[in-house]
Amino acid sequence: MRYVVTGAAGFVGSHLAESLVAEGHEVVGADCFTDYYDPAEKERNAAGLDVRRLDLVEEPLELEGVDGVFHLAGQPGVRSFGDVFPLYLRRNLHATQRVFEAAAAAAVPVVFASSSSVYGEAEAYPTPEDSLPRPISPYGLTKLGCEHLARAYAVGYGLAAVVLRYFTVYGPRQRPDMFLRRVCDRLLDGAPFELYGDGSQSRSFTYVGDAVAATIAAMERAQPGSLYNVGGGEEASVLDAISALERIAGRRLDVRRLDAARGDVSRTRADVSRIARDLGWVPQTSLDAGLTAMWSWASGTVAAG
Ligand code: UGA
Repeated sequence: MRYVVTGAAGFVGSHLAESLVAEGHEVVGADCFTDYYDPAEKERNAAGLDVRRLDLVEEPLELEGVDGVFHLAGQPGVRSFGDVFPLYLRRNLHATQRVFEAAAAAAVPVVFASSSSVYGEAEAYPTPEDSLPRPISPYGLTKLGCEHLARAYAVGYGLAAVVLRYFTVYGPRQRPDMFLRRVCDRLLDGAPFELYGDGSQSRSFTYVGDAVAATIAAMERAQPGSLYNVGGGEEASVLDAISALERIAGRRLDVRRLDAARGDVSRTRADVSRIARDLGWVPQTSLDAGLTAMWSWASGTVAAG
């Protein structure tokens, strides 16, 4: 198959593109290498892949001869209030509208990367997909808007789209602004780690290899119009995750406490029974195994300079 992966120089996108290539598919990546974090890191993620520099809002997405689009490009990060909001509108809502428009016109199916942050403080834990989404971050609101756009394009133009709500994906090459990556980096450089709140907040941390497997299964086997949680099997608090990484690294983290961050939810816990039933996907990687792989990558990257 010939696939387009948007956000192919990003964390999850680069892993997805590599897996698709390893499975024998042809992958054309698209990424606009924004400076949300160091673009040099994205260049390293994209090394060995065919990733074209493309701004989805400005330039057309070429879909002739393409069998499917994995739309992972976006402006991430739940701590998204303030002056940065226009970036979220542009890079999430507007870019996604352009992808859906192009895919609908070319009759190409799309898998769209949404987020657990659409739930906000969820109605129930574990959280099933039909819980009322009430995001508490501007970011989550834009991702929820994209989900509704998928439905609007399905109804209006017959777009075949599947929506995945990823839950805090982690592993090698995780974005440098994310919690577990910062813990690894601070364990390595010895600088203080800034903890938002008391650390009792918890997440269904999801290993990137598992997220990629779910994403490929969604393209290959999901019915158009379906919506799935993609979440790891173990919920862990931020403090528990720090302890686990300290044990794996054999180092102590210097923790400085700050106020809780606006937009941060206190808890996520994915109900993954729907994706297990329909696609046979269940998370395979324990938090311990995933953190060990992530630490090995982070410490190896530093050692390699
Ligand atoms: C993550 C991603 O950043 C979003 O792009 C994604 O959509 C979202 O997961 C999701 O699953 O919906 P988040 O869970 O906030 O959002 O990601 P982390 O950066 O891993 O934060 C986890 C927890 O660690 C949060 O409670 C946060 O407050 C805390 N944290 C993070 C700190 O205490 N200090 C930091 O420096 C960073």
